[in-house]
Amino acid sequence: MQERLWQIDELNFESNHQHHYETLFSIGNGYLGTRGTFEEGYFLDAPATLIHGIYDHAPGALVPELVNAPNWLDLKITVDSTPLQMIMTVDRSDFMTPPSGVVIGYERSIDMKRGVLRRDVLFRAQSGNIVRITFERFASLHDQHVMAQRIVITAVDGHPAIIVESALQTDVTNNGVRHWLPDPITKTEGGRLSAQVTTQQSGYVVAMASYLNSPHTEIALPHPGRPATHIVFTLKQEESVTIEKLTTIYTSRDTADPLATAETALDAASARGYDTLLSDHIAEWATDWETADIRIDGDEAIQRALRFTTYHVLIASPRTDEHVSVGAKTLSGLGYKGHVFWDTEIFVTPTLMLIQPKMARNLLMYRYHNLHGAREKAKANGYEGAMYPWESTDTGEETTPQWSDVQPDGSRIRIWTGDNEQHISSDIAYTTHKYWRWTGDDDFLIKYGAEMMLDTAVFWGSRVEYNADHDRYELSQQIGPDEYHENIDNSVFVNRMAQAHLKSALDVLAWLKTNDSVAADRLIAALDLNTTRLDKWRDIVAKMFIPFDHEKAIHIQFPGFFDMEYIPVPHYQPRTTSVQAILGHARSIQTQVIKQADVVMMMALLGHELSIPEGFDPLQVMLNNWNTYYPRTDHGSSLSPAMHAWVAARLGLLDEAYDMLDHAVHIDLQDNKGNVRDGMHAAACGGVWQAVIFGLCGLRISRDGALITDPRLPAHWRRVSFNVYYRGEKRAFTVENPVYSDQS
Ligand code: BGC
Repeated sequence: MQERLWQIDELNFESNHQHHYETLFSIGNGYLGTRGTFEEGYFLDAPATLIHGIYDHAPGALVPELVNAPNWLDLKITVDSTPLQMIMTVDRSDFMTPPSGVVIGYERSIDMKRGVLRRDVLFRAQSGNIVRITFERFASLHDQHVMAQRIVITAVDGHPAIIVESALQTDVTNNGVRHWLPDPITKTEGGRLSAQVTTQQSGYVVAMASYLNSPHTEIALPHPGRPATHIVFTLKQEESVTIEKLTTIYTSRDTADPLATAETALDAASARGYDTLLSDHIAEWATDWETADIRIDGDEAIQRALRFTTYHVLIASPRTDEHVSVGAKTLSGLGYKGHVFWDTEIFVTPTLMLIQPKMARNLLMYRYHNLHGAREKAKANGYEGAMYPWESTDTGEETTPQWSDVQPDGSRIRIWTGDNEQHISSDIAYTTHKYWRWTGDDDFLIKYGAEMMLDTAVFWGSRVEYNADHDRYELSQQIGPDEYHENIDNSVFVNRMAQAHLKSALDVLAWLKTNDSVAADRLIAALDLNTTRLDKWRDIVAKMFIPFDHEKAIHIQFPGFFDMEYIPVPHYQPRTTSVQAILGHARSIQTQVIKQADVVMMMALLGHELSIPEGFDPLQVMLNNWNTYYPRTDHGSSLSPAMHAWVAARLGLLDEAYDMLDHAVHIDLQDNKGNVRDGMHAAACGGVWQAVIFGLCGLRISRDGALITDPRLPAHWRRVSFNVYYRGEKRAFTVENPVYSDQS
């Protein structure tokens, strides 16, 4: 295996890109994520450790958010009284007379195969002595409560006197918003530190214990809020010293006494030692990659980027906890406040369903455990059943802010998604059903999945509006995936997904009656699935309004869409911002510019099952839809390109499929929109995996239940190999490209 295809490197530190790299170089293990900030800190850096499930609603804030935990990375190094700081120079004169310390060499890389972040720094102190410092860190995948750091300091020139200070920094905020109560508990005992903090409103407790292991004596430093210890030593020329810092982290979600548990776990971790912890961690990653890795023969750039996006899906997704889920920005940044959207079910969960089915189940269980919130939302809005929140946290309540942050002109914009982006209930039902079909996990369906699918179907049954003039069912005041057009009537995506949802709910109920009549009876009684209700569902399935233009043989995104101004989006190239930002909010909502895959999204999810009137060829309609909507799409959301890649591949549009895949897989690496500082785009990361497997490789379940592929690969890809779990068995595929041409 070529190692460089498993690495993302940063060869030059540029301070104006630091927030981007902090996100890219996040480490994590499904329990927490820690941004790739420097151990010693940096001017205006944005360190963050985000732990799944630790939310808090600060006084005066519109909504709760995932809380930035104490900074366990904190390590400060001083060489001959000069503190290490990432001040770089390329100016030769500075080499001779450094104003203070100066970094004369730098390299950083994330090793995705092993889940390890490394940084090499060549540092010249004011004294003139030069040291090489190698930093390494990982969040153990083997024991999710253990974090490890190692630094190796080598005297390259001179006999430097070194001080290494290790601390746990509890004085942290979310961009200035304080979530931790004042007066944390802190302890310093020799080389051991501990800290415990409690959130203000939600009362979650987070505890960390840390140990600095080195051949030198430690001197404790008392410091309120930042327990610290430091060691002092001198190096001979060419001499190296290795220092290891182990930190354990527990919360009140894990145990009744997080501090004591963290301290005990620290003893156990220290006894095992860094090398053992590292090899266990690497072994765990090797197991993960055995299934998760897609091997592309013929495209190194996509190969590496795809490993990068898969790495981020793996570090963000909870492994054992079924009460938490993946936020839209993973655990790598504060964007979207750690809230969970449809991004999880449609983009992340189906990927995990194939590579880590247990983790996919956990994510669906999060929705099951939060059914109460969905039921309350339905009731509060005057509906029956369960209506999932557009944005969700730890309580299952709707947590979409109703208003935006203050705009430059002082105003706030009303956010309607929490009210009207109701397709999320169908999205969750869609993936629940898909998970069951692909995994064959009947136990899940019987105990949990069916209830979610059926109670959300109850919601739609009470939500639809019957239009007697046309003898059809409609849905007014909706927001489809294209969020530029808000509060519209009869979004084809929403209507079709609700129709498919009700159909699958009826199918699942029929299956339950045959296969577990006790469970069926229990749900029929609990959810009041009486004959009148079920007959209504059948009627909705038969008569849901699916806007369609018979003349053009296309689906209509929503009636009235084509009456608006047409803007040819491809003319706005190259651009570094969305067409919406260029035209302005007020104008763009009056145009046919689409934020993201909408009708195209429907085609990705439902394939040929599009509800097409008799006599029309589904493939031709899909092609017409593509030709209509692709040139109108802004890709103003990171969710868009991967879905386009998927659909283009299925339609045999290989160039478009490749362009869109290339775009999708590099969204975070290239940061074209400049927003990666807020966190990775979880949906784009999960979406590209699906685009390759379902789109380009064409993996699907045939009518007789066999797994088949139908490759539509770019000509320069020779083959793609991957593994997936299907109904409990791991299956290996190598998909050869029928149209491969060697272009080298
Ligand atoms: C997209 C939504 C998405 C959300 C979170 C928005 O910009 O339009 O589809 O769920 O971001 O990623």
